[in-house]
Amino acid sequence: MPPYRLAHLSDPHLPPPPGALTWRDLASKRALSAIAWRRKGPEHRPDVLAALIADVRAQGCDHTAITGDLTNFSTPAEYAAARAWLQTLGDPRDLTLSPGNHDALVGADAPARFAPWREWLGDADDIAFPALRERGPLALINLCSAIPTAPWLAAGRLGADQLARLTQILDSLAGRDLRRVVTIHHPPSQGVVSGRKSLEDAADLRAILARHGVDLILHGHAHEAEVSAIPGPSGPIPVLGVPSASAAGGGRHAPARWHALEFPADPADRRIRVEARGLVNGAFAPLGAYVLGA
Ligand SMILES: [Fe+2]
Ligand SMILES: [Fe+2]
Repeated sequence: MPPYRLAHLSDPHLPPPPGALTWRDLASKRALSAIAWRRKGPEHRPDVLAALIADVRAQGCDHTAITGDLTNFSTPAEYAAARAWLQTLGDPRDLTLSPGNHDALVGADAPARFAPWREWLGDADDIAFPALRERGPLALINLCSAIPTAPWLAAGRLGADQLARLTQILDSLAGRDLRRVVTIHHPPSQGVVSGRKSLEDAADLRAILARHGVDLILHGHAHEAEVSAIPGPSGPIPVLGVPSASAAGGGRHAPARWHALEFPADPADRRIRVEARGLVNGAFAPLGAYVLGA
C-alpha cells in the first residue's frame, strides 16, 4: 500500500472581489484591515497561489488541509468568492478548511458565519467544531480558533465548549489505529506569534493534548515556516506551520510554501515524512524533506 499523502497550505488571502467593501464597512474593523491590506497587498499574489495549487495537483495528494485566512475583511462577497475558489479544488470531502482570524473580523461568531464553507469544514450537515473526518489512516480533527476581535488584534480562541468536545473526540479515538492530525489557524505553541496574535486558551488546549496526545498539529497565521512542539503523553507532539500560500516573498514574510506529508499505510509505523515545496525563482520546487518520529 502506498503512503497516504496530505497537503498542508495556509493563509491564501484571496484577492477581494470588486465591491467587497461597502461604506458601512468603513466604520468597522474592516476599514483598518483594508488599510493594512493596501500596505501589504503586493505580498499576496493570485498567480503565486495558482502556481502553488498546480504544484499540489501535480504531486497527487489524497487530501488537502487549509488552515485559514481565505479572506481579508470577512465580507459576504469574499465568502462567496472563497467558496467559488474552493469549488475549483475538487471534491469538498478531500479538503478540510480551518477558518482564520481574517475570516471572522466582524459580525457573528462561528459556526453560523461559516455556512458558505460548510462542505469543507467537516462531514456533518450542521457546522460544529471540532469536526472529525476519518480519511485513510488519518483522523483529522478540525478546530476553529477564529473569533471577532478588537481592532489591531488578531487573537484566537477555542472556547470551553469546543475544548470539551475535543476531549470527547479524543476519548472516542482512544485505541483506534488512526493517526490523529489537528488542524487549527492559530499556533498552539508558545512564542510562535506575538501576544496580540496568539490563541487565548492555548494553555487549555495544550493541557488536553498533553493528556490525550495527537500525532501532529498543523497551523497557519504566522506566515512563516514554523517547526515547534508541545508536550504529549509519550513525547513531544510536532507542530508545523507554513507560510502564506500566496506570498510572493521579498516582503516581511517568507515566500509561498506548502508541505506534502506522507503517512505510512501501516498504522504501526508512526513516522511522518515532510517535504517542503516552495517558490524558487518563480516556480515551485522541493526545498527539503525530513522525517518526524524517526
Ligand atoms: Fe494570514
Ligand atoms: Fe491569521
